[in-house]
Amino acid sequence: MTSPILVTGGTGTLGRQVVELLQKTGQEVRVLSRSPQPPRAGVEFFIGDLSTGVGIDSAVQGVEIIIHCAGGPSGDGLKAQNLVRAASLDGRPHLVFISVVGAGRIPLRSKADRAMFGYFGSKLAAERVIAQSGLPFTTLRATQFYDLLVLVAKQMVKLPAMPSPTGFRFQPVDSGEVAARLVDLALSEPAGRVPDLGGPRIYPVADLLRDYLSAAHRHRVLVPLRMPGSAARAIRAGANLAPDQAIGRRTWEDFLAERVGHSA
Ligand SMILES: NC(=O)c1ccc[n+]([C@@H]2O[C@H](COP(=O)([O-])OP(=O)(O)OC[C@H]3O[C@@H](n4cnc5c(N)ncnc54)[C@H](OP(=O)(O)O)[C@@H]3O)[C@@H](O)[C@H]2O)c1
Repeated sequence: MTSPILVTGGTGTLGRQVVELLQKTGQEVRVLSRSPQPPRAGVEFFIGDLSTGVGIDSAVQGVEIIIHCAGGPSGDGLKAQNLVRAASLDGRPHLVFISVVGAGRIPLRSKADRAMFGYFGSKLAAERVIAQSGLPFTTLRATQFYDLLVLVAKQMVKLPAMPSPTGFRFQPVDSGEVAARLVDLALSEPAGRVPDLGGPRIYPVADLLRDYLSAAHRHRVLVPLRMPGSAARAIRAGANLAPDQAIGRRTWEDFLAERVGHSA
């Protein structure tokens, strides 16, 4: 009998899809969450908080593979530290981590940089904790998920006008494709840092916002905004892009038609 696979963040956008794919391959799955979850067939839920370390030890006990999808806008280094500490108490599980393209390429020199783009530093901190953990690991960096862009656009559309950072481009990707890649990596030998996963096309941010508005049948004026600081400069130079790794297949247009067009 194989040991269960632990998915941290298995309640999130990416993690849910990872869990579903693992179940299709017949794997026994554990999910770590900070709050009680409604029962799901074939999934064992553990309550724990990676920021404090509370409840993690029992979730990692006896697992040989951990897919670490839990994350937030900040503090992912600490979350990784607590996970590594608990995982190292009980064997040497393969730790598979999802990071973000741009981690390590976006300088965070000022308070304002850190306030706006600290997420990239937090992912880099987590990458380092995992790489230096002594545990076998695989780290994949992906570009922004389509779901995230829609989430942000839905918030912005509540404003009378939508700010559109000039010179910013994104290469969004389908989170289902990232989930599939993570599952493949988890069921393979540990590989360290693997090639990035980017979406099929690069778009100026204004195009992405206009596409969203059009799919959602909404109208808003876009207000060009020049973002100050070194992090924004790096993003204007493409630090968040992976043009040589435009591997994703599902397009933004297809995603919008299916997810936003229907509900609009
Ligand atoms: N979204 C993107 O565009 C993108 C791009 C590249 C990489 N990533 C990375 O991919 C991962 C998943 O992203 P996502 O969009 O699926 O995120 P999401 O939907 O916001 O889900 C976040 C998950 O993290 C869990 N979590 C957060 N803080 C936790 C804590 N202290 N202890 C335990 N669990 C915690 C949440 O679980 P509970 O709320 O149930 O506790 C939830 O399942 C993140 O690490 C993110 O940085 C995201």
